[in-house]
Amino acid sequence: MQNPAKVRGIFSSIAGRYDVANHVLCGGLDFLWRARAARMVAAWQPRDILDLATGSGDLVLAMQRALPQARIVGADFCLPMLKMAARKGLRSLVVADGTRLPFADRSFDAVTVAFGLRNMESWPRALREMCRVLREGGHLLVLDFSMPRQPFAAIYRFYLHRVLPLAAGLITGNRSGYEYLGESIEAFPSGASMCRLIGDSGFRAPRAIPLAAGIVSIYTAEKSGDDPRS
Ligand SMILES: C[S@@+](CC[C@H](N)C(=O)[O-])C[C@H]1O[C@@H](n2cnc3c(N)ncnc32)[C@H](O)[C@@H]1O
Repeated sequence: MQNPAKVRGIFSSIAGRYDVANHVLCGGLDFLWRARAARMVAAWQPRDILDLATGSGDLVLAMQRALPQARIVGADFCLPMLKMAARKGLRSLVVADGTRLPFADRSFDAVTVAFGLRNMESWPRALREMCRVLREGGHLLVLDFSMPRQPFAAIYRFYLHRVLPLAAGLITGNRSGYEYLGESIEAFPSGASMCRLIGDSGFRAPRAIPLAAGIVSIYTAEKSGDDPRS
């Protein structure tokens, strides 16, 4: 659970360098993770997709390639990040907070959120909002960092808390923003805990797919018939 003003401030300050930092610090693997997510979404054949916390729009671009006929809306609460997405030619962009979405109930067939849910003020509230705007039987896909198991966890923690803030600070000029990244990854539920959270927010059949030795996971679920607000 994160402070929204702090999060918006961090992303506003790094927006111009976000993509470079992202690709360098992930060694380019983030392209593969988003492509994998886009293929999974394409298998559901959705017509209307919301990409929440779309940031600079890379998941929308990957989904457009996999699903050229789909209507994809990108939403984010940080205007400088959306401006980076607009520079890449994305047009369906909306300034919106993931915990208070300005969309009617049952507007989308799929909701995706990549590296965004972790940054939100209330994960359950954001998940319930995603559920609300999905049609019955609609699909959720969450892509985010997770903590790998031992013995890899110790090496990963060293990278996360020592190497990454230093390298990212040099690229973006905002070292503290990347100290926040490590803290947010440690605090974010992964694996079975995340599946429980998703299941408690109105979704059925939550599934976790760990990638890259578990440093990233994809979670999928479907909107169940039961309205979580009732
Ligand atoms: C790490 S970036 C991810 C961007 C993009 N999805 C990607 O895969 O590169 C996180 C994004 O989440 C957005 N964000 C954080 N909290 C949000 C919220 N409550 N509502 C909407 N967007 C939010 C930030 O503004 C930022 O653009």
